[in-house]
Amino acid sequence: MLKGKDLLSIHDLSVDEVAEILDFAGELKAMQKAGVEHPILAGKTLGMIFEKSSTRTRVSFEVGMYQLGGQALFLSSRDLQIGRGEPIKDTARVLSRYLDGIMIRTFAHSDVEELARYADVPVINALTDLLHPCQVLTDLLTIKEHRGQNLKGLKLAYIGDGNNMANSYMYGCAKAGIHFAAATPQGYEPDAEVTKNAVADAKETGGSITLVHDVFEAAKDADVICTDVWASMGQENEREERKKIFAGYQINQALLEVADKHAIVMHCLPAHRGEEITADVFEANAQVIFDEAENRLHTQKAIMALTMAD
Ligand code: CP
Ligand code: NVA
Repeated sequence: MLKGKDLLSIHDLSVDEVAEILDFAGELKAMQKAGVEHPILAGKTLGMIFEKSSTRTRVSFEVGMYQLGGQALFLSSRDLQIGRGEPIKDTARVLSRYLDGIMIRTFAHSDVEELARYADVPVINALTDLLHPCQVLTDLLTIKEHRGQNLKGLKLAYIGDGNNMANSYMYGCAKAGIHFAAATPQGYEPDAEVTKNAVADAKETGGSITLVHDVFEAAKDADVICTDVWASMGQENEREERKKIFAGYQINQALLEVADKHAIVMHCLPAHRGEEITADVFEANAQVIFDEAENRLHTQKAIMALTMAD
C-alpha cells in the first residue's frame, strides 16, 4: 500500500496504512530480537539530510538501514551545497539519481514538501517545525505495547507547547481513534490547520480533539500523558522567556493524581528535567520512555521497508 509513497505527515496516511506500519514494526522488532535476518532493503541506499541536531533519529535510521541490508548516508546541510544556496528542487532531482530514499530533518515544512515534489524516490519527514510523524508513529507502537493492542478509545493528554509533537499527536491520535487533549498556554496552541484536519480525521475513527489551557482538565483520566521541550530546535533565543510562560505546564506527581491510575508517561526526548517533566516522574517512567526511544528503530525500519522495497 505504501510502496513508492512519501511519509511527510500522518494525516496523509489512511487508517489502514497507520495500522500496517505499526503491525510491521512489531514484526520487525520480534525478528530482530529473535536474531532473524531481514535484508528487505539489500542493495538500497537512504540519504539522510540534517539541518538540525539529532541523536535518536540519526542513529536509528542509520542502524535500521544497516539491519535491513541497505546503507545510509549522513548528509549534513553544513556540508551539502544546499547550505550554500543550491535549490531544494535541484538537490531533490540529483539525489534521486543516486538514492532509493531520502530522509530529511529541517525547519520549514514547505521545504520537505518541495523536496518530495521534485524527488522520484520516497521522502521521509524526520522532523520539521510543523510535524514529527516518525516519532508519533513510534509512540503509538509503544502505547500498544504498554496499554494493549487496541488503541481506540484511549485518552492521550499532551502538556506543554503546541509544537511539532503536539501537531503530530493530533494526527496520530485522530487516525488511531484515540481521544486527544492538549493543555498549552494561551497563544501556544497547536497549528490551526492541523487541528482542523485532525478534527475531521477523528470523526472517521471515533477519536476526538480537545484543546484547553488547564493542565488538570487535559490530564483528567488520561491513559497516556506526553510532553515535549518548552523551546524546540530553532527557538533557543526564546528559552528564558518560554521558561516563564510555560511554568506550570509540567508533568509532575500532582498532575498524575488526576490521570488514570495505570497512566503511562511518555517523552520523545531530549528531556529537560525540572521544566516540562520532574526528575522523579521521568525516572519512574524510564522503562516506557526508553522503550519509546528504542521503538524509533523498529518503526522507521517498517516505514523504510514499506515505502522503499521493490
Ligand atoms: N526524539 C527525537 O527525534 O530525538 P533526536 O532529536 O535526538 O533525533
Ligand atoms: N519539539 C522538539 C522535538 C525534538 C525531538 C524540537 O523540535 O526540537
